[in-house]
Amino acid sequence: MQDPKRYTITAALPYTNGPVHIGHLAGVYVPADIYARYLRLNDKEVAFVCGSDEHGVPITLKAKAEGVSPQAVVDKYHEIIKSSFKEFGITFDNYSRTSAPIHHETASDFFKDLYEHGKFIEETSAQLYDEDAKQFLADRFIVGTCPKCGFEESYGDQCENCGTSHNAQDLINPKSVITGNVPSLKETKHWYLPLNEYENWLSEWILKGHKKDWKANVLGQVKSWVDDGLKPRAVTRDLDWGIPVPVKGAEGKVLYVWFDAPIGYISSTKEWAKRTGKDWEPFWKDQDTSLIHFIGKDNIVFHCIIFPAMLKAQGSYILPENVPANEFLNLEGNKISTSKNWAVWLHEYLVDFPEKQDVLRYVLTANAPETKDNDFTWKDFQARNNNELVAIFGNFINRVLVLTNKYYEGVIPEAKTFTDIDLQTLDLMSKYPDVISSSIKRYRFREALSELMNLARLGNKYLADEEPWKQIKTDPERVKTIMFVALQIASALAVLSEPFLPFTSGRLKAMLNMDDLKTVKWSVVSTEKMLLPSQHQIEKAELLFSKIEDAEIQLQIDKLEATKASNIEVKIEPQKETINFEDFTKLDIRIGTILEAKKIPKTKKLLKLKVDVGIDTRTIVSGIAESFDPKDIIGQKVSVLVNLAPRKLRGVESQGMILMSDTADGKLSFIEPDGDTVGNGERVS
Ligand code: MF3
Ligand code: ZN
Repeated sequence: MQDPKRYTITAALPYTNGPVHIGHLAGVYVPADIYARYLRLNDKEVAFVCGSDEHGVPITLKAKAEGVSPQAVVDKYHEIIKSSFKEFGITFDNYSRTSAPIHHETASDFFKDLYEHGKFIEETSAQLYDEDAKQFLADRFIVGTCPKCGFEESYGDQCENCGTSHNAQDLINPKSVITGNVPSLKETKHWYLPLNEYENWLSEWILKGHKKDWKANVLGQVKSWVDDGLKPRAVTRDLDWGIPVPVKGAEGKVLYVWFDAPIGYISSTKEWAKRTGKDWEPFWKDQDTSLIHFIGKDNIVFHCIIFPAMLKAQGSYILPENVPANEFLNLEGNKISTSKNWAVWLHEYLVDFPEKQDVLRYVLTANAPETKDNDFTWKDFQARNNNELVAIFGNFINRVLVLTNKYYEGVIPEAKTFTDIDLQTLDLMSKYPDVISSSIKRYRFREALSELMNLARLGNKYLADEEPWKQIKTDPERVKTIMFVALQIASALAVLSEPFLPFTSGRLKAMLNMDDLKTVKWSVVSTEKMLLPSQHQIEKAELLFSKIEDAEIQLQIDKLEATKASNIEVKIEPQKETINFEDFTKLDIRIGTILEAKKIPKTKKLLKLKVDVGIDTRTIVSGIAESFDPKDIIGQKVSVLVNLAPRKLRGVESQGMILMSDTADGKLSFIEPDGDTVGNGERVS
């Protein structure tokens, strides 16, 4: 669409069963915020809406696990999520929640409208039921094998492995999440949206109409869905947490969470319009509005097939102009997981790295999983901060501000004559607004950010070539022009960094005293009119970024290591028969050091070890060859039971036993003293 009149930008409503983590930020909220900020800087009318997704089974499960009500769960996480978004600089025009009355009403009316116009199929059928829990099992209450990819832990409504969305009855070997029971079948009535009737329309609209401008990952998923053939999809559930189905004969039933949640975009827009005295309808019904959904790849089917079919069925709504879905961000090589606590949580980051919102925004954008899954590592976070933000962006700004204050007491000098280099540099600078725009408009935020950094590089190169700090002694007139040019680049950075690094942009504008230049909009960066005129007074330099030290990064890595350790699943064996103290004192266990290790030929497990146990050096045969390479354990400190009666193993006499920790799944590790000061022969008791 060529420059629509207004934009409705939505960011996937986060589930309120946990806080927000870096995966959510990189996939959805940071790109959506960049886009919204960019449009506002270009004087576009924007409604950027979001809110908490408070229905659905994950919340009920969390409530069960914590022994509290679902309402208590959503209240807790709604507050954490809402305030951390705000502190992180995500500029939603409205952040609502699906438990709000305005949402219940909007979703309920939407359902009724479709119902009254005969858009649903009503059908009674046998559904999975847990006899002990006395409950129907839908969505995340049920796991089983995915009919499409064979993943054994697929949920009832969606497989996390292949992304396929299916009906609970399609699962192979289904099991209740509540009791572990194999479900039985029980008759129940539900309402279905006949997606099959929208199949032709969908493929015309998306696969033909949007071939060029939609992302390949999105089109790919839609195509595979349509190729598989769309089926009617239940939009109601037998649950007690959710929005009651507003028709007779539906007592005890609620709307399917994926029916109500996307309507949350509409109710959030209504809430915003009410608060600000605007009209919400054009934002959802005027053809001159661009509706853009920012989501993660697991939400594609809902935003490209089910929600559009709902909007189409209703008939008076616009359809999304684009759905720029991202792939996933991993953390230190592993899939981010709320339940395994494998995540960097936003609210914790904000405590651990105060005033460093922009660093995380930068790293998540530079590393955004736009076309494939990507990995976040703390080392990369540190490197990007120190080598890019500090060394490139921060360094340029600092040089410009320090020198301007030093040479001219902060008053911008007069530029007398521009050299070719000056003009070329200003000309290059003036191209950046368009270059960055073009990337943002195509949802290529990584590319856009790297262009912004190229502008900072341009500034650094200019200063490095012109060397004002040298020329000031020989040609102070020339230095005035150099500093004038460099200051224009600094001001361009202040304006163009705003969508990506809003806190930095704010601080930089304050240092450059740009607040009273009123017109700090995107398009004012040009060669026609300099943003910072001569005589303009700027402020003192303050550092925009600071180095992140190894110790800070190590703390974060340690935190993740601890999580990993507590996630190790150990099969605990039952305790052995009780012994008395005398039995225990008969054991003589000493610290020793392995001096030699050799595999015993023709055995799988046995190593012949020479171990210094303080008393003497002795031969011990140990069944650890499958876990350790002989050459890796020379010098290893071990605990040795030294008074075990010698016995022959494969012809070698073993004079003791090395103690190992030996989990039920067969993982061996040495029991070694903590620290290097424990000598061979010391007693373990
Ligand atoms: N809560 C969903 C998730 O986290 C996203 C809901 S998006 C909406 O995956 F469209 F339903 F709002
Ligand atoms: Zn699957």
